[in-house]
Amino acid sequence: MAVHRIGVLTSGGDTPGMNAAVRAVVRRGLSMDDMVLGVYHGYEGLMNGNVKQLHSTDVHGIIQRGGTILRTARSDDFRFPEGQEKAVKIMKAYEMDALIVVGGDGSFRGAQDLAKHGVNVMGIPGTIDNDMGYTDFTIGFDTAVNNVIGELEKIKDTMRSHDRVAVVEVMGRACGDIALWSGMVGPTDIVLAPECPKPWEEAAAQLVQNKLLGRYTSLVVIAEGAGKAEDFAKFVRETTDVDIKPVVLSYIQRGGSPSASDRMLATRLGARAVELIHEGKKNRAVGIRDNHIIDVDICEASGHSDSFDENLYNLHGALNKIYI
Ligand code: F6P
Repeated sequence: MAVHRIGVLTSGGDTPGMNAAVRAVVRRGLSMDDMVLGVYHGYEGLMNGNVKQLHSTDVHGIIQRGGTILRTARSDDFRFPEGQEKAVKIMKAYEMDALIVVGGDGSFRGAQDLAKHGVNVMGIPGTIDNDMGYTDFTIGFDTAVNNVIGELEKIKDTMRSHDRVAVVEVMGRACGDIALWSGMVGPTDIVLAPECPKPWEEAAAQLVQNKLLGRYTSLVVIAEGAGKAEDFAKFVRETTDVDIKPVVLSYIQRGGSPSASDRMLATRLGARAVELIHEGKKNRAVGIRDNHIIDVDICEASGHSDSFDENLYNLHGALNKIYI
């Protein structure tokens, strides 16, 4: 008989590294004589009993795959008590002792709702947005930043050939981390992030100044939480003589094979979530702080404002000014 019967699901926007986390949950569970039950299509699948036992071979060759083999969903019905009760019934029917949820802030809130029904839930932070303040990094963020800088470099090549300026919109919801990190290490002159709102007039003036000083090609990265690329481009065109093209990177930044760093993070967090169940812990969220794997009460893990690094933002400004 299995020591624990552990359910695992992925929820919300998919993120590179979700598969690596599922693999770690399954194999760490098997190494400790657990049975792992995969729940397909997130909470939607939990409510509908879309459950299948996962064996070691089911997770073979997935550590390098983007997306999630368990599929994902954003469920409206699960937000209501009736939906949650349905999910609890399914968990009882499958005799699950615990449920591991890989997802972002909204998915963690769903897990907290289940905890109120007496279910033991473990949260693993999986979102490209890096907007969960209790952990330094979320799974998928590093890959998204790598995806973005690759695209920025391509955009920069063509912009440079035409002496043009581009404004590139990246994801992140209300969080500017993808914009800031890709701006720091990619070919970016200006970062527009919601946490440090730079007036558009100031950014436009900087583009004009760059041109006057001989830098004809500039790249602006705008976090979706700070506005739309199209609107910023329109503003610049109406107020200056700068030739600017808007680009929206959209889902390109969320797909693809996870980086080594995301695979490592997902593997460490997935394994730790299982170990916590064996230690008798209840309703925890795992994360990483100063390169140590930590766990906190899952109720404290969501709704945290993210710690946007203002020093990094200011450093970006200093490193990308033109000095004469
Ligand atoms: O939370 C991840 C994320 O990719 C955000 O950055 C973005 O705003 C949102 O999901 C897009 O949502 P959807 O997948 O529903 O289009």
